[in-house]
Amino acid sequence: MNTATDIFTPITAGQLQLKNRIWMAPLTRVRSGVDHVPGELMAQYYAQRASAGLIIAEATMVLPETSAFMQEPGIYNAEQIAGWRKVTDAVHQAGGQIALQLWHGGRASHPALNGGKTAVAASAIAIDGEVHTPSGKQPYTVPRELADDELPAIIEGFRQAAENAKEAGFDGIELHGANGYLLDNFLRDGSNHRSGPYGGPIENRARLLLEVLEAVIGVWGSQRVGVRTSPLNSFNSMQDSDPVGMTRYLAQQFSQLDLAFWHLMRADFAGVQQADVVSAAREIYQGNLVTNMGYSRDEANQGIANNQFDAVTFGVPFISNPDLVERFRLDAPLNEADPNTFYVPGEKGYIDYPTLEAEPA
Ligand SMILES: Cc1cc2nc3c(=O)[nH]c(=O)nc-3n(C[C@H](O)[C@H](O)[C@H](O)COP(=O)(O)O)c2cc1C
Repeated sequence: MNTATDIFTPITAGQLQLKNRIWMAPLTRVRSGVDHVPGELMAQYYAQRASAGLIIAEATMVLPETSAFMQEPGIYNAEQIAGWRKVTDAVHQAGGQIALQLWHGGRASHPALNGGKTAVAASAIAIDGEVHTPSGKQPYTVPRELADDELPAIIEGFRQAAENAKEAGFDGIELHGANGYLLDNFLRDGSNHRSGPYGGPIENRARLLLEVLEAVIGVWGSQRVGVRTSPLNSFNSMQDSDPVGMTRYLAQQFSQLDLAFWHLMRADFAGVQQADVVSAAREIYQGNLVTNMGYSRDEANQGIANNQFDAVTFGVPFISNPDLVERFRLDAPLNEADPNTFYVPGEKGYIDYPTLEAEPA
């Protein structure tokens, strides 16, 4: 284990030697165009943020026809691999390191974004809410329940995407097991009503996530693989009867897998479901625990100093502060982020937030 002092202390996460503990959280920004191919604009955006200890790049489709946001990136074809190569090269040239978040949208995917293809999930239960489509907002649809014998193809999709991420020059990968998307959809009992090996008790609901982890570890080795979970987040109509129990079970399993890191979201975006999952994870988990959601510089420093966790990811603060690390070092004021440009293609609100250097004195 690392003897942490503060957010600026370097950290070894598996085989990743990282210069600080201020990591960039994965952030969907829909700048990949309708073909889901990253380009120069994304390379510039990520390179601007290369002072992060580790950039975890945005949720990226492992399989075609799983789009949930219209212009999010994929990593299932050669063009996308080449596009991501531009991004990883730019980040490396700027002295940074970058992992890719591998993602299947599950029931958040919408037929209107996927040539009419029905979304799939653990159970046939729709998200309550609406999604942006080319013809305006539409309600989420009822997904089709995946049969057990369809799961090997999903696992293979993740495995192939892990290989593609390697070819694209990433330093590692993070498996997206959070926020109600397919793997999280299996984890929690509000959305997983299955019977059989993938439904029911905690160990069954965690099976798919663990099988996918093993598959991607087969490509990368465990020491460059992280995983993200959000046991409390009610985003995407998610709930669970025992988030702490699931956290404890995963802590044991992830310890055995000897991952580079576990990226645990500490809370619920909506504040509905509450528990101390970070302490539950810390008690059991043997590896690097990285936490997220609403941290300030001082709270992150304190938690690391108190050995409650090893690193913190920052989301919105990194959107509006490409030089967040330097601002934290100087305890300088932060730029405010503009939510109106979070999910809108183009340069505005993406690559034009000023650094301290660029600001008038
Ligand atoms: C615009 C936006 C896009 C996001 N996209 C993703 C994503 O692709 N994958 C993911 O796991 N979380 C995503 N999140 C959640 C963030 O990673 C993070 O958990 C959230 O912003 C809370 O952290 P913060 O308080 O430091 O911003 C997104 C959040 C925002 C605001």
